[in-house]
Amino acid sequence: MIFEAKQITLKDGRTAILKTPCIEDAEKMLNYIKKSCGETDFLIRYPEDWNGITIESEEKWVEGLRVSPVVLAIACYIDGEIAGNCEINFNRTIKTAHRASVHIALIKKYWNLGIGSAMFAELIAAAEARPEIEIVELEFLEGNDRAKALYEKFGFKVVGERPNAFKLKDGRLLKEYFMQKQLRNK
Ligand SMILES: CC(C)(COP(=O)(O)OP(=O)(O)OC[C@H]1O[C@@H](n2cnc3c(N)ncnc32)[C@H](O)[C@@H]1OP(=O)(O)O)[C@@H](O)C(=O)NCCC(=O)NCCS
Repeated sequence: MIFEAKQITLKDGRTAILKTPCIEDAEKMLNYIKKSCGETDFLIRYPEDWNGITIESEEKWVEGLRVSPVVLAIACYIDGEIAGNCEINFNRTIKTAHRASVHIALIKKYWNLGIGSAMFAELIAAAEARPEIEIVELEFLEGNDRAKALYEKFGFKVVGERPNAFKLKDGRLLKEYFMQKQLRNK
């Protein structure tokens, strides 16, 4: 799916563009996610977990995003740089087609500027535009208070948890929380 370019104004007055990543930006996408994974423990991968991903495979992945009928990816571009990306995945199977899941990660220097909020507004709008979607869901890890605040602001509520979900290199174990936002009841 394609999200056409839309300009937003950040909390510091700068402008940014939200749009589905272009295939020619695949290398930038790979660099952004590797960087982001090195800046926080709250994403599922360490930077080296991306080592097997080549620019060619990333190009195929971006191309797949653009043509997929069940994924909407929205990247944030600032001065040509990718500040972050988010996705909403619409489930395919009949039994789960009422649910969609969302994911988001931004580079640290762009945290707290309102990008996450702008992205979430678009992801929720995309879910609302599909009458079959009743629930939007996500996961976050204990300690990720910024993410939790963002999700609560958009009406997500904790519905469950998985103890010991992440084991960090220093041995610390982190609990994962599941959140859902009820869009509509059927
Ligand atoms: C989590 C993340 C997506 C949030 O995006 P963001 O652009 O920084 O979020 P925003 O600036 O739109 O909003 C953050 C909100 O949290 C608040 N906040 C910031 N730090 C906070 C903290 N430590 N505790 C509570 N609230 C906090 C801000 O005040 C803001 O609220 P407001 O809009 O009412 O002022 C981003 O920080 C990020 O990519 N983090 C690393 C990767 C990650 O954790 N991804 C999510 C995995 S579940």
